[in-house]
Amino acid sequence: MNLRSVVNVEDMRHLARAALPKIAFDFIDGGVEDEDGLAANRDAFRQYRLFPRYLVDVSKRDQSMEIFGQKYASPIGISPMGIAGFFRPGADLMLARAAAEANIPYILSGSSCDSIERVMAAAPDTTWFQIYGTKDVAIVDDLVRRASALKVKVLALTIDTPILGGRERNMRNGFTRPIKLTPGVVLQGLLRPRWTMDFLRNGGVPTMENWKPYSEKQDANSVADLFGSQTPAPAQTWDILHRIRRLWSGPLLVKGVLHPEDALLCARAGADGIIISNHGGRQLDRAPAPLEVLPDIRTAVGSGVELIVDGGVRRGSDVIIANCLGARMCTFGRPAMFAVAGAGQPGAEKLLQIMRRQIDMILTQIGCASLRDLGPQCLAHPGRLPPALPATTQPHRVPATAGP
Ligand SMILES: Cc1cc2nc3c(=O)[nH]c(=O)nc-3n(C[C@H](O)[C@H](O)[C@H](O)COP(=O)(O)O)c2cc1C
Repeated sequence: MNLRSVVNVEDMRHLARAALPKIAFDFIDGGVEDEDGLAANRDAFRQYRLFPRYLVDVSKRDQSMEIFGQKYASPIGISPMGIAGFFRPGADLMLARAAAEANIPYILSGSSCDSIERVMAAAPDTTWFQIYGTKDVAIVDDLVRRASALKVKVLALTIDTPILGGRERNMRNGFTRPIKLTPGVVLQGLLRPRWTMDFLRNGGVPTMENWKPYSEKQDANSVADLFGSQTPAPAQTWDILHRIRRLWSGPLLVKGVLHPEDALLCARAGADGIIISNHGGRQLDRAPAPLEVLPDIRTAVGSGVELIVDGGVRRGSDVIIANCLGARMCTFGRPAMFAVAGAGQPGAEKLLQIMRRQIDMILTQIGCASLRDLGPQCLAHPGRLPPALPATTQPHRVPATAGP
């Protein structure tokens, strides 16, 4: 399979599988434990059906949307993903440029390989930044300060990682730090010579550039060790959110919220939005799917808080369903990492075109010319009755006119 023959996200996954050693592909693709959460994220979308409505003028469609005072071309964005440079050197910059080109948000991970300074220089208008709380709060304070100085558009604090989840594929594959060069790993590298050449040419494991200022030694392993000693920070409480809210004057998102009461606490702490997420099924395997809890979270926080759904989004129809249930937009992780790992920036650009095209097609098929027309009335959910007909559309007979 090559990029030209890719027509959907699953094809991008195959492209990445063909490009990466198994140990790397599994790191992206995998969930935790039994991977129930991973499956639940997809199943939640599959529960819904969309009602097609016909004989509506949908000759002009508009999928643009506005969030935090800025207009974007589509209700989609790229979720933060750490160590992207391991899968393809320069992947963070490639994703940022592809997102800028498509005019959609790219959320740079705090544990990225390209620094926030470099990424902001490349894509200043569409880059958002994600951080974790750190044991030494001076570090998180400084990350926020750097983001402010760079005029990053939106800051996201991820709260769903008090401990690393049980990534059993990684355990089985020996994805440890530093990676042990077992005969199996060497063989995987030999079977993927392009990736291996790129990896070696770029000096092996890439450095988490954002963290260099906080590490005495500047080599990749020492910087990663420092990161590993600072996160997760299991002692942190809601104080971290209050602290960041005081430091950061721009739009603030909290990522990894699933309980409606936590959503309410985020709103009370002054968060402007919530990324409803179970970390793509990579943390608590038995967590609910983000889509399942979206309606209750919308009820809990009311209309004043932006809601973003992240996890299991693989098609335009998923984005439409989440919008119908009250989300402003969706973000996705693995599809973007597969695209950039498999085919670099052109891969990421093609992925975004595919998602855009699918969103446009579905809008047309369900008779909605813009995202404003979406709502629960567009959804059919097994086990629920179809929406009641408004009085104005009660069936009535149109009198037949006399024929010629
Ligand atoms: C390779 C990889 C790295 C990730 N790194 C981070 C990270 O650094 N910070 C974070 O908040 N979430 C991280 N995530 C989770 C994503 O932001 C997102 O929640 C998840 O991928 C969404 O599910 P999806 O892959 O099904 O779209 C990572 C996910 C993947 C696949």
